[in-house]
Amino acid sequence: MCGIIGYTKKNSEDKLTTGKILSDGLKNLEYRGYDSCGIAVLKKTNNNNDIVLKKGVGKVREVCEKLDFNYIDGVLGIGHTRWATHGKVDKTNSHPHLDCIKNIAIVHNGIIENFQKLKENLVNLGHKFSSETDSEIIAHLIEEHLKKGKSFKESFRLAIQELNGRYAILAIKKDEKIILGAKFGSPLIVASNEAGNFLISDLSAVENYSNKIAHLQDGQLIEINDLTIEVTDLQKNKVDIIWSFRNIQKNEENNLKFKHQLLQEINEQEYTIIKTIESNVKQSREFAEQIIKSRQVIFIGCGSAANVSFLASVLFTKIAKINASYCIASEFESKLPVLNEKDLIIAISQSGETADTMEAIDSAKKIGCKTYSIVNTEESSITRKTEKTILLRIGPEKAVCSTKAVTAQIAIIYQIANYLIDNEEFNEQIQNAIKNNSFIFQPDFSQTISMLAKKIVDKKNIFIIGTAEQMPIALECALKLQEVAVVDAFGFASGELKHGPLALIEKNTPIIALFNNDDTDKFVQSNAIEAKTRGAYIIAINAKDDSEFDFKIKFNQAFGFNTILNLIIIQLLSYHIGVEKKLDVDLIRNLAKSVTVK
Ligand code: G6P
Repeated sequence: MCGIIGYTKKNSEDKLTTGKILSDGLKNLEYRGYDSCGIAVLKKTNNNNDIVLKKGVGKVREVCEKLDFNYIDGVLGIGHTRWATHGKVDKTNSHPHLDCIKNIAIVHNGIIENFQKLKENLVNLGHKFSSETDSEIIAHLIEEHLKKGKSFKESFRLAIQELNGRYAILAIKKDEKIILGAKFGSPLIVASNEAGNFLISDLSAVENYSNKIAHLQDGQLIEINDLTIEVTDLQKNKVDIIWSFRNIQKNEENNLKFKHQLLQEINEQEYTIIKTIESNVKQSREFAEQIIKSRQVIFIGCGSAANVSFLASVLFTKIAKINASYCIASEFESKLPVLNEKDLIIAISQSGETADTMEAIDSAKKIGCKTYSIVNTEESSITRKTEKTILLRIGPEKAVCSTKAVTAQIAIIYQIANYLIDNEEFNEQIQNAIKNNSFIFQPDFSQTISMLAKKIVDKKNIFIIGTAEQMPIALECALKLQEVAVVDAFGFASGELKHGPLALIEKNTPIIALFNNDDTDKFVQSNAIEAKTRGAYIIAINAKDDSEFDFKIKFNQAFGFNTILNLIIIQLLSYHIGVEKKLDVDLIRNLAKSVTVK
């Protein structure tokens, strides 16, 4: 996890300070980690260059303001926003890390697997460590090689060669006007624009510039200064950089039309679902063509994307009569024995950077499977790893809890499944489903859901039941309630209620029943009524006969897309419960938006 940025200033007269550029970048990278953050800037002091280090615990915005990052200027600097993996959340464990004599500063995204052994050796050599992190060893390793008379560049290269694990690393040295970088497993992009040269975890860190960019490959090292950029491999062979050009639009955070980023993204779904469908007609047809040619198709993903993968397997069977399956990406090893080169793996990911999903793709590629993806973030690692990608084109999703990306992924799954059966009316049907129900994006409806949130805010459990395609949606609804409302929420097939969970029902335990408006409704209806007779408080979404239920939510003709509408309603409910509980609904405790570690 974690986001990193390095910046070398082109014009020393530029009024934008290095600290300001680093902190703007870190604010955009915050979704990658928000436990703590820090910067190290190379500054001229009394004819000497010195490393000015500032770091602290808290959200990026708060730390940047408290520690006055904007007022720190210098020729270059590195920054980091942390999501703790090794070592608790505190100032000493936050990055950048220094060596013993404060000569070197480093930032790191990833995990150094052999850090214990390396640390033991370094301690035996007399190095003093300040933090519990795996990352700090990198600064000390560089220091150790410098002591032996090697140059900074050579010391960095030798240090990198000692590491096992995944990393994107940046290092600076007190008296050298360069930033050195290394990549293996974690993303690292070099960008060049009118302000200077950058090394960044992702492109959001340099938004609002017109950028020349290049993705570094695993095993590459890079050196940047204000004028030059040089890439080599670990054996010092020069590597040509393949540049592309990107105009990255500023995501006007200050233009939030809603109180929270999450609420904004929930409301954007009125347009994003249609946008993704309209943008991907050709691509979805190409996916459908490959699916027909393949021996089997397996959808993979993590978190919400795993739930969408599950839904995809149900919908492909139901709509297209294709036997598709799904696998949680971190469990993909178990599928390997039954795969061969005639199979197609479709990876689903909002960020395109999830480590478990990337590793599953790599394993599938080794076997010779075709690998496609459905991703929101352009230029992300998964888009580059897979042969074909459907880009959602719904703009960046910044709230940690995934909402608009999930419904866009679902819409694409419907689109491919419908193209498989040549349903040419599909685009119009889904558009009508959203247009007919635009009231769910209106303040009055939000008010109704807020009333429901107040009624159930203090309940210890919430259950969500559904059958067929509503079952994976029940799982996704439960995930939303866990993340944003921080409640013990469980989603399952409605038929399973009587096989265990009924034991947990107390007076007024909320059960959300998701209806599909087809033949399956009668099962959900009877399961929900059985729970009601045992005291449950039933919230029914679009039940035909809701006379016996306690809270009723109805929507209009949805042309078979109840999944999407049911989910949006529960996203909204999760939001309102979170707000009632005064939780941070955008940056959720203990979670990161992009999980780039295994
Ligand atoms: C994290 C996020 C989830 C997301 C999952 C997969 O756990 O908090 O919201 O569903 O990663 O992320 P991806 O970017 O691959 O969709």
